[in-house]
Amino acid sequence: MRDTRQTIPPISIVTDNDHGQKYEKNSFLKKMINFFIIPILNILPANFNVVVRKTSKDANEVIKTATSHHAIEILYNYHPQKIKNRVERFFYYIWFNLNNPKAVRNRLKLVTREVKTAIQGLDRKNSDINILSIASGSARAIADALLSIETIEHLDLKDNNLHVTFLDKSPQACGYSKHLIEGERWGEKYNFRWINDTASSFPSHFVNNGWDIPDIVEMVGLLDYFTDEQVEKIFSTIYENMASDGVLITANIADNKERPFVTRVIGWKMIYRTPEQFAQLMTHAGFKPEQIRIVYEPLKVHFVAIAKK
Ligand SMILES: C[S@@+](CC[C@H](N)C(=O)[O-])C[C@H]1O[C@@H](n2cnc3c(N)ncnc32)[C@H](O)[C@@H]1O
Repeated sequence: MRDTRQTIPPISIVTDNDHGQKYEKNSFLKKMINFFIIPILNILPANFNVVVRKTSKDANEVIKTATSHHAIEILYNYHPQKIKNRVERFFYYIWFNLNNPKAVRNRLKLVTREVKTAIQGLDRKNSDINILSIASGSARAIADALLSIETIEHLDLKDNNLHVTFLDKSPQACGYSKHLIEGERWGEKYNFRWINDTASSFPSHFVNNGWDIPDIVEMVGLLDYFTDEQVEKIFSTIYENMASDGVLITANIADNKERPFVTRVIGWKMIYRTPEQFAQLMTHAGFKPEQIRIVYEPLKVHFVAIAKK
């Protein structure tokens, strides 16, 4: 990882404690339990995943499909009551109530709110709104944000439309999100489109189709797998190909106590960064430090960066 000692002006880094968000936190008892079990989980050998996989069908699926939209969807859709078998429900509770799964669900809530805020903050009385979701996966954050803006009249779009482009390199993710979006009722002002390609390809698709450049770019759950060089490159591509008052909403995982267990036993390898390292990659790509805001979800496992161009 690149040397990040080079100083940049201070950026805003906060931990969100908005009670309205209904974030998942840990009770005192859960903190005590974690205090004892996390160090044990962290020293387990990689092949302990055989045991984890046997104790819960969902844990087995997550391990099998780690990093995919499918695995993330299982984490998002945490519903213990669906498990009839008591023993399996107990293990399902154990695995899906560690800090990492909770933090992924918190990140979804945080990103949803920030997408909604960014849409409402745009001044687009006389033009369409364009949203691009890169590595869109199931598209849940965008769908939840749009569904939470009660009526499109709130956006004061007048004769304009809201275009949302979902881009993912996995055809299965594109198909899944299409199914999810098409399962909702949308007014005629909403226009959804899908691109099955890699992240950096988006400008050519926009140019070739004659689409307006995006006002809002959401890219979450991707940079955790990108090297610094790849992160900087995609940030530059986004910066150069977004509206002059556009907003980028993105995220990264931070170092946390469960990292050895997640990496070795679950087999979910990621690149962990500090908000400062992440902000520096953004500034190298052209974003100004004073226009970057970084917000941790309450467990401080994931942070979300919101940068105005
Ligand atoms: C962990 S999921 C995150 C999905 C979604 N953004 C979310 O937060 O729920 C990662 C997604 O990135 C997609 N992906 C991975 N590498 C990609 C790339 N180079 N370009 C575009 N999509 C990519 C995967 O197919 C997968 O759907």
